[in-house]
Amino acid sequence: MFSKTSLGRPPYLVDTQATMPPLPPRMKQRGQQSNFGQTLLFVLMSLALSCIVIEACFIYRLYQSEAKHEMSFSKQVGGEVTTPTKTSVHDVLPSKPVAHLTDGQDVVHGKHILSWSRIADPLLYEMSYREGNLIIHQEGYYYIYSKVFYLEKDSFYHYVMRHTERMAGANITLLLARKYSPRLCSTKSNSHAATRSNSYLAGVFHLLQNDSLYVNVSDSSHVLRHKSMENFFGAFMI
Ligand SMILES: *[C@@H]1O[C@H](CO)[C@@H](O)[C@H](O)[C@H]1NC(C)=O
Ligand SMILES: *[C@@H]1O[C@H](CO)[C@@H](O)[C@H](O)[C@H]1NC(C)=O
Ligand SMILES: *[C@@H]1O[C@H](CO)[C@@H](O)[C@H](O)[C@H]1NC(C)=O
Repeated sequence: MFSKTSLGRPPYLVDTQATMPPLPPRMKQRGQQSNFGQTLLFVLMSLALSCIVIEACFIYRLYQSEAKHEMSFSKQVGGEVTTPTKTSVHDVLPSKPVAHLTDGQDVVHGKHILSWSRIADPLLYEMSYREGNLIIHQEGYYYIYSKVFYLEKDSFYHYVMRHTERMAGANITLLLARKYSPRLCSTKSNSHAATRSNSYLAGVFHLLQNDSLYVNVSDSSHVLRHKSMENFFGAFMI
């Protein structure tokens, strides 16, 4: 290191010259490192940004499919084909409590008390649903209705019941339909010919807060379940 050069410069100068050259590569390395760091930062930032964009796309899609669901649902409730508009159940809230429940693939009926679907987008506003029961939040007069499609075997009862906390937890029959079928010989050929019927009940009743409504039938295994809109239960405040 301290050797004389051909130029005859003092050793200390040679030393600086000798130590100087290694510096630029180090600087270069540092430059490369900071470049690498910047690139890494850039990659991470763009990754994070693209993640946000993808998430936003997912949320948008979800919202879109939900909106479509609601549109098809409101079409079904209306019972007539309407042109799909942006107006969904959530955009225009009902002015009063309302509920419309239907049958569905997720439904498992009790022996007597019918259950209603949670996946079929039930219309529920200012009322709640729990295990077959429609629970009233606001006291008032309500129009209550229910329809069931059933197989006529011997007899079939269709009730709309009210459970109230006021009268010692009484269960009151609000609406009742009964069908007595003539007793046919219970041979297999006759059971194939069994008639299919509909039972529709409706009426107006005064209900209190925390009252619950439910549909009771003589035998839930006689209820025919081909389409979700064939069996329904609903109420709305008038
Ligand atoms: C009303 O029905 C519910 C549910 O089946 C039952 O738990 C309750 O004991 C009944 N109330 C009366 C007073 O029978
Ligand atoms: C209804 O139930 C809620 C909670 O279960 C209770 O806070 C409220 O006082 C009840 N209302 C009436 C009128 O019983
Ligand atoms: C349902 O109806 C049956 C008669 O079909 C009756 O015996 C039973 O008590 C009712 N259950 C409830 C909880 O209302």
